[in-house]
Amino acid sequence: MTRVFSGIKPTGNVHLGNLLGALVHWVDDQHRAESTYCVVDLHALTVPQDPAELRATSMRLAQILLAVGLDPEVCTLFVQSHLTEHTELTWLMECTASYGELSRMTQFKDKSDKAAFVSGGLFTYPALMAADILVHDTDEVPVGDDQRQHVELTRDIAERFNSRYGTTFVVPRATYPPAGARVMDLQDPTSKMSKSEDTASGTILFDDDPTVIERKFKRAVTDNDAEVRFDVAAKPGVSNLLSILGAATGRTPEQAAEGYTQYGPLKADAAAAVIELLGPMQARFAELTADPGETARLLAAGAAKAREVASTTVTRAKANIGLLPSSSA
Ligand code: TYM
Repeated sequence: MTRVFSGIKPTGNVHLGNLLGALVHWVDDQHRAESTYCVVDLHALTVPQDPAELRATSMRLAQILLAVGLDPEVCTLFVQSHLTEHTELTWLMECTASYGELSRMTQFKDKSDKAAFVSGGLFTYPALMAADILVHDTDEVPVGDDQRQHVELTRDIAERFNSRYGTTFVVPRATYPPAGARVMDLQDPTSKMSKSEDTASGTILFDDDPTVIERKFKRAVTDNDAEVRFDVAAKPGVSNLLSILGAATGRTPEQAAEGYTQYGPLKADAAAAVIELLGPMQARFAELTADPGETARLLAAGAAKAREVASTTVTRAKANIGLLPSSSA
């Protein structure tokens, strides 16, 4: 059976880009593939974190993933730092990736340009991400478009390791949704919607209520020619609304454009579709927050399940690279 793995960082608030680019597809994938999903808390540490806030954000994110529809009876859901196998494999990944490859990662360049303190972890982040993916023998990685370069590097690392030390890792491939792979900021449709940028009115958050969502869509930037057509280069704002409407209603952006001649109804329908998508998720989230002990228990069970494959992969990788087995020490 196909094996799926993906992760999300517990930083800031979950937004519509995370949902449409990744999370709703994780929910679908869990029913057709052996799926493992992860709150990648170690990835959050590349920038300094407030410890109490990181703990709270990680728990909240796990609850959001359950509320969105991940079913721990069907998939495996766990927290990255609960499996030491991820960090153990990371060193082998760092020694297989080249300095040049890591230097070329555009996310590192963007983030290090803006950060006052650039940690070593920010630079080696893609090696940890490669370990996340490879340790679970992953075939497919459902992600948004911004993770393309990281998954490509993971493939290169896997192929290099396999050719140096013999077949060890499954070479994974990224999968992207037909609509919503790159949800843009509603106020600046040439920048992606993001949890780290401070663009409150251009970002739809997981817990925005219907009035806020309507207001944000009403104020979304479009253009002056008033023609509804999917053309990302010429009409980024309108195309973003069509991508969102399409992704939220299971259609392509081109299909979503049919029948519209004005921006007003398009904005109203995009808002309505997002409200309809988020409403039941927000209600389930409220229920889950009442019992954090239950979420903690599910996460512990998820980690135990995830460890079965991860520990076998790490043992295989260590043996193949030439590390002495600890039993012969
Ligand atoms: P993160 O936490 O930034 O985002 C989680 C998922 O949301 C997608 N996404 C978007 N999709 C469409 N439009 C947007 N505006 C948008 N913003 C975010 C991301 O592509 C991602 O799929 N490095 C990863 C986390 C990670 C990971 C992994 C992912 C760590 N290890 C292993 C896959 C496999 C990240 O920072 O995602």
